[in-house]
Amino acid sequence: MGFRKDFLWGGAISACQAEGAWDADGKAMTFPEVIQAIDPAKRKAMQQAYVTRQMIDEAKTAPVSRYPKRWGIDFYHTYKQDIALFAEMGFSVFRFSVQIARLYPDLEQPEPNPKALAFYDSVVEECLRHHMEPLITISHFDPPIAVWEQYGGWSNKKMIDIYCKFAHCLFTRYRGKVKYWVTFNEINMALKAPFKTLGMVSGEGPDYENARWNGIHNQFVASAKAVLDAHRIDPSFRIGCMIADLATYPYSTDPNDVVANQTFDQFSNLGFLDVMVKGAYPYFYQNYFERHGICLHENEEEQALLRRGTVDFVGFSYYMSFLTAQSTIGKQMIGGNMSGGLKNEKLTATEWGWQIDPVGLRYVCNQLYDRYRKPLFVLENGMGAVEQPDAEGKIHDDYRIAYFREHLRQLKLAAEDGCDILGYTTWGPIDLISSSTSEMSKRYGFIYVDQDDTGHGTGRRLRKDSFYWYRDVIAHNGENL
Ligand code: BG6
Repeated sequence: MGFRKDFLWGGAISACQAEGAWDADGKAMTFPEVIQAIDPAKRKAMQQAYVTRQMIDEAKTAPVSRYPKRWGIDFYHTYKQDIALFAEMGFSVFRFSVQIARLYPDLEQPEPNPKALAFYDSVVEECLRHHMEPLITISHFDPPIAVWEQYGGWSNKKMIDIYCKFAHCLFTRYRGKVKYWVTFNEINMALKAPFKTLGMVSGEGPDYENARWNGIHNQFVASAKAVLDAHRIDPSFRIGCMIADLATYPYSTDPNDVVANQTFDQFSNLGFLDVMVKGAYPYFYQNYFERHGICLHENEEEQALLRRGTVDFVGFSYYMSFLTAQSTIGKQMIGGNMSGGLKNEKLTATEWGWQIDPVGLRYVCNQLYDRYRKPLFVLENGMGAVEQPDAEGKIHDDYRIAYFREHLRQLKLAAEDGCDILGYTTWGPIDLISSSTSEMSKRYGFIYVDQDDTGHGTGRRLRKDSFYWYRDVIAHNGENL
């Protein structure tokens, strides 16, 4: 009992938060590169949930020093050393993403940029050299600005072909080397921050809601096409989908709160998985579309694609949980992963107000396994904290160890409940730029990076206490938790 023998242990990063080198070798500009870091005094309240045309225009000429995701943690140059550190912890999997803006700076160019390809080749080779499965996220919150400027966002069907060309290039190039793939990172974040996934500029266009849902639909179709293409190229490929699991419980035992909670869960989490795992839109989306005048531009061919192109595993991120009530009036809200919710008095929270709920991970695993009966993959889990090394260069992050220990104990219980869990990649095994606030000081890593919010520092990597703890957990396949 416990974790399967071949359980995949590791960590996850994204290109746009780690690579830096934002304009190296002809790379095109992306949405994350037009976002400035938030004022730390406002960090509990603020998340960057939109991008405007003005922000894009300003960013084209403003000093680079204002935009942290342009330098990341310089993974573009430090990947060998960073991957070696992951190997030292015993990782059997490393999840990272590939930027379309590097491979296809002009989204319509037929062939990828060879220099960009050489970089990703080398990242894959480093993983293999260290006996780690590379797990590639094809798209992680990094739409090029051209997605908006040339195509008006993902609601344009041309994006499906552009994405499929990119995915095809990766599948053929890394056949026999990469087995695990995720088509879109947290695809349901289109509901909270459509610039991150759909390349949409806030509030523009005649019918924003229609455009948003057509963008989501086009991503479902693109994902299904990619799954089919991947299986054609190599039947042993394992392709997953991914949502941010915005785990929620009813605020009270009032049946109205229970229904409000169910509706939120269906709409924000399960509906996305239903399409990608079961291959069709659930009744509650169809009903929502009818009632809100949302008209999907789809045809029978696309419906067939969705039916056939279902995924091999269900991936999700899990950070926190919150409560949902019929009415929020007079109730205390808390922050969270792009999605606030109601406070749960029984839980503590991180400095960013994200409620810590290890038991929720067991709950979510059982809910998803019960509904889909496909293997699960916990693709992100972790906590952000402000940290500084002491005089001896040590970081005693016992709170992070406690966070992971409790979550992993619950994950093990979920495995013992009978859920089939393929693996677990912590978010940010190395400190990197925060997605929602663009701060460096929101640190997630087992590895500390000596760099501040303005990009200053030596860039030196230091092992935190949690580094040694996680190494030990991996060495024992979680038996010692
Ligand atoms: C997930 C994203 O939503 O949460 C990551 O996939 C992100 O890209 C992570 O970094 C943690 O969020 P944040 O805002 O604290 O970086």
